[in-house]
Amino acid sequence: PRTVTLGLVGGGTVGGGIVEILRANAAAIRASLNVEFRIATICVADVAKQRDYALPAGCALTTDVHAVLDDAQIDVVVEVMGGTTLAKEVVMKAMASGKHVVTANKALIAANLPALAAAHAAANAARAGAPVHFGYEAAVCGGIPIIHVLQRDLLSDRITGVRGIINGCTNYMLSSMAASGCSYADCLRQASDLGYAEADPTLDVGGFDARSKLKILIELAFGLGVDEDDIPVKGITEVTSVDFEYAKMQGGTIKLLGVAQLDGAGGLTAFVSPAFVPEASQLHGINGATNAVQLLSAYLKETVLVGQGAGRFPTANSCVADLLQIAQGICPAPFPKRPEAGLAFKNDYS
Ligand code: NAP
Ligand code: HSE
Repeated sequence: PRTVTLGLVGGGTVGGGIVEILRANAAAIRASLNVEFRIATICVADVAKQRDYALPAGCALTTDVHAVLDDAQIDVVVEVMGGTTLAKEVVMKAMASGKHVVTANKALIAANLPALAAAHAAANAARAGAPVHFGYEAAVCGGIPIIHVLQRDLLSDRITGVRGIINGCTNYMLSSMAASGCSYADCLRQASDLGYAEADPTLDVGGFDARSKLKILIELAFGLGVDEDDIPVKGITEVTSVDFEYAKMQGGTIKLLGVAQLDGAGGLTAFVSPAFVPEASQLHGINGATNAVQLLSAYLKETVLVGQGAGRFPTANSCVADLLQIAQGICPAPFPKRPEAGLAFKNDYS
């Protein structure tokens, strides 16, 4: 079998999941693709920390990212560390040196997708050999394969709308408040205990995490770069049990939605807000930390992708999906869509 050598930058929740998925599926991957993934190095902040997974045989643990970046044996850099400063440096340097890159880093992609796509194009233009891959399937909605669908499968369809439950923490909270009348504070505590919340839960309850994901989905679905701060956002902090009673009386419930849609007059509108969702909607029954993305398009009409938006294995599985593309020589353009002529972002709701 052909060996594809990996260097992981980050060996925490997601990094450990990648190690375990690759170990558990090594024989199946060898049998189907004749490829063996070898993890040469894992870069972490603290090498003395107890890990909740076994290190692969022969794998070095280091705190020095250059042990990954400067190792000519490493074909793929998997950035699962988080943050935007060192992570951006790692991703840029890895691509520039001809290594494939896989990242799960939503913050990095939301802040830099066009720049990263340009760096990826430049890296490939400077190379004579096979193109380098830049994959970030795990960066939006964890385990749901939404990025590859937008990059490849729906590229020739005309997407007119994207609506979704794209934050698991708030969907868990709203579902619990609707079902059991659980208080806002208790639901937030539970969501944090279950590992759904960001380190700073304001990002979840304020709608900002959903807004970062919506921004990336807008770039992929409509080809339009949008300043994240221009997308109106309202979180769930003011939602109370009374709102659920009213919603139920009207035959629906309340969900935090991220919505982006063409307005039919050359404009794209977008927002993140709690919204009334009627029982007839496919988003109505999406409960707990599950995410769902509804795509409206010319050919497929309505497509809904549902799944786990976070967590070790769903997220790591999306990183592995990118690795499997690399093993097969599949290299989608990271930001392929170009906006329709005249398409402009309109955030003026006055
Ligand atoms: P995590 O558990 O905190 O792991 C982060 C890893 O990076 C740890 O191994 C940490 O080392 C290492 N690290 C931190 N700073 C470092 C530095 N300066 N140099 C070298 N290594 C460093 O985080 P995670 O949950 O796996 O998330 C990783 C990425 O995946 C983030 O971008 C996150 O947004 C994204 N993501 C996560 C999920 C999820 O459900 N967890 C879902 C979607 C996307 P130590 O282990 O020694 O502390
Ligand atoms: N806090 C995020 C969520 C984690 O609840 O969706 C995954 O991005």
